[in-house]
Amino acid sequence: MRTILVLNPKGGSGKSTVATNIASYFATQGRNVTLADCDPQGSSQDWLAARSGSRNSINGAILKNHSLEIPKGTDVLVLDTPAGVSDKRLSKFLSQAQTMVMPVLASPIDMRAAERFLHELFSLKGTVNNKIKIATVANRVREDTLAAAKLEYYLNHIKLPNGKKLPFMTMLRQSQNYIRAAESGLGIFELAPSKTYYDREQWAPLLRWLNSNKSLPKK
Ligand SMILES: Nc1ncnc2c1ncn2[C@@H]1O[C@H](COP(=O)(O)OP(=O)(O)OP(=O)(O)O)[C@@H](O)[C@H]1O
Ligand SMILES: [Mg+2]
Repeated sequence: MRTILVLNPKGGSGKSTVATNIASYFATQGRNVTLADCDPQGSSQDWLAARSGSRNSINGAILKNHSLEIPKGTDVLVLDTPAGVSDKRLSKFLSQAQTMVMPVLASPIDMRAAERFLHELFSLKGTVNNKIKIATVANRVREDTLAAAKLEYYLNHIKLPNGKKLPFMTMLRQSQNYIRAAESGLGIFELAPSKTYYDREQWAPLLRWLNSNKSLPKK
C-alpha cells in the first residue's frame, strides 16, 4: 500500500487542501484511495461527505483510540493530520507512512515555524530518508510578491541531516479553484481542465515525485 502523510504542525498551512487533492488525483487514476482524517476538526471528512457518489469513490477513515481502520483493498492511503503535532504523536504519524508532504505558506511566521519543526524532525535520527521521504510544497502563493520569492529561496535551501537538499517540489498558487473544488468534495483534477490548466501544471512535479521511487524510503 502506498502511504502518503501530509503534515505541518502550523495551523492553516494547507494540509487538508493538499491531502484532499492528492486523494482526488489518485482516485481519478482509478486507484483505490483511502483518505484518513486524523484531525478532530474533520475537514477531510467534511470534504468526503460533500463528494457526489457519481465521482470515483474515495474511502474515509478516522482515528479511533489512536488507531486507524484502513479498508481492505486500499492501494493509496493519504493521511491528513491536525495542527500542533509533535513529540510522540509526530513519531507515530511518521511511522505510518512512506512519504511526507509538507505544505508551507509564504509568511515569516510560517517559515519560522517550519524551521523549528524541521529541527525537531531532523533530530529523530534515522527517520528522514531511511524510514520516510519528505518534500516541501509552497502553498497559497501570490505570485510575483516578495513573500513568494522569500519562501521559494527558503525552501530551496533547506538541507537534510545528510547534507543533501530537502526536496522542494512546487509552488501552488492561491486560487479560487481549490475553494470551488472543495465545496463539492472534489480536487482541482476533477474540475474542467481549461479552468485548472495552470494549477495542474503546478501539481505536476509533486505528482511525478509521488509516482516515482524517489518518494519511497530505502528498503
Ligand atoms: N492554494 C490555495 N488557494 C486558495 N485557498 C487555499 C489554498 N490552500 C488552502 N487554502 C484555504 O486556506 C484555508 C486553510 O487551508 P487548509 O484547511 O487546507 O489548511 P490546514 O493546514 O489543513 O489547516 P488546519 O491546520 O486547521 O488543519 C482553507 O480555507 C483553504 O480552503
Ligand atoms: Mg486541516
